[in-house]
Amino acid sequence: MLMCIRLKSISTSFGLYLDVIALYFLYEYFWHCICLIGVISVVGQVKTNQKGEEMTKQQTNAALHERRNNVIAKGFGSATTKYISHAKGAIITDVEGQDYIDFAGGIAVMNVGHSHPKVVKALKDQAEKLTHTCFMVAPYESPVELAEKLCDAAPGDSKKSVMFVSTGAEAVENAIKIARYHTQKTGIIAFENAFHGRTLMGMTLTSKIKPYKHGLGPFAPEVYRIPYANCYRCPFGQEHPGCNLECAEHLEDFFISYVGAEQTAAIIIEPVQGEGGFIAPPKEYFKKLKSLCEKNSVLMIADEIQTGIGRTGYMFAMEYYGVEADITTVAKSLGAGMPISAVIGKKEIMDSVHPAGIGGTYSANPMCCEAALAVFDIFESEDLLTKAKQLGEKLHATFTSFQEKHALIGDVRGVGPMIAIELVSDREKKTPAPEKAKQLVDFCLERNLIILSCGTYGNVIRLLMPLVITDEQLDKGMEIIENGLTAIS
Ligand SMILES: Cc1ncc(COP(=O)(O)O)c(C=O)c1O
Repeated sequence: MLMCIRLKSISTSFGLYLDVIALYFLYEYFWHCICLIGVISVVGQVKTNQKGEEMTKQQTNAALHERRNNVIAKGFGSATTKYISHAKGAIITDVEGQDYIDFAGGIAVMNVGHSHPKVVKALKDQAEKLTHTCFMVAPYESPVELAEKLCDAAPGDSKKSVMFVSTGAEAVENAIKIARYHTQKTGIIAFENAFHGRTLMGMTLTSKIKPYKHGLGPFAPEVYRIPYANCYRCPFGQEHPGCNLECAEHLEDFFISYVGAEQTAAIIIEPVQGEGGFIAPPKEYFKKLKSLCEKNSVLMIADEIQTGIGRTGYMFAMEYYGVEADITTVAKSLGAGMPISAVIGKKEIMDSVHPAGIGGTYSANPMCCEAALAVFDIFESEDLLTKAKQLGEKLHATFTSFQEKHALIGDVRGVGPMIAIELVSDREKKTPAPEKAKQLVDFCLERNLIILSCGTYGNVIRLLMPLVITDEQLDKGMEIIENGLTAIS
């Protein structure tokens, strides 16, 4: 190329010709340099995932996990080290292009499925209009419409009203505030194995020490604990039926021995314990408990944060038990992933708190409310409660058949598609087998199925798949679980 430039001086007409050649070579020279720099900088970073989509080194699960460990607090952990790129229905896809069948549903949040088109549209439309004014400053319609729907859907005939916050724990905090304000009493009774969140009050009400409470105290005062209706491991050594529901009757003794009813504002109870191990009391239990609460002028708060919005085949699990709680908390699947929670209660109870005594900056955020309205629309238009009931029946039948074959399964329980198996190393002694639960979770993850364990002993495998899961996805997932049970037995 340099030679060509020098030759240019030999003659002007010939020089013009050489000019073109020189420019061509210059262009070629720089172009190759640029390409070379590009190749050097990209080599080792460009990879394609299994779908042939290009990804950089930073987008591998391992690389993201390494970055995460540098900057994300250790206590804020994750059950898997798969980093998710997108999700649809009951399938989630990681950054490496691996698809997973989702039996966890973001811990009971995705009952209508991931990225449901109606939720996506509602969010897009709302984002164009308004994302926040603060309902406590300048209100708008969607929370009103949502509150109407929640009041309609919540069990019982009493006139109700609603307040919104963002998370489950916040709903619990507010339910307790409202109950105390209304009754002008302070005591709160919670249950063994309960989970109510990670805020100060949520953590205090929660039963299990590790990981939820260990080293994180001191806790809030005036919280008392009584045994739950746990038929598989009856705290009273009884067997149902024929036990006269001693677990409910016990409340009266508790008022005599531990905290007076005249001091007690409310009991807070999960209709089916979630994190505690999917423990579902006998059907008559809640009626008895409620009548004892009424007799003693104590409110009943139903924490439906995990059981609500169709998880049990009913919009609210208390409908299954035929009981109207005084106050109900709901969150998780209400917003299909958007952070919204609600406290729904009898109007005279809810309205007792003075203006601005409850609320928050993001309470009833318009994006979240629109997502929740879309959720209600989906339940109706897709008849999701019927689907949920059918799903529940199928899961019960499948798990029961697994139990016949696998001695590891001590108990199959739950309401509708909120179902779990408890793993034990000895059926007679009911010895918890948490290490087997962990092995099963790992086995499934290696085969692209995400499941979660729970329970006081960590030995319960629970199912929380989106209710819109296809038969094929469901069958595949259950087959992996059964293979896993065989492999770890
Ligand atoms: C019954 C129950 N209450 C409260 C909570 C706390 O909800 P959040 O994590 O949204 O604060 C949960 C969460 O799992 C729950 O299952």
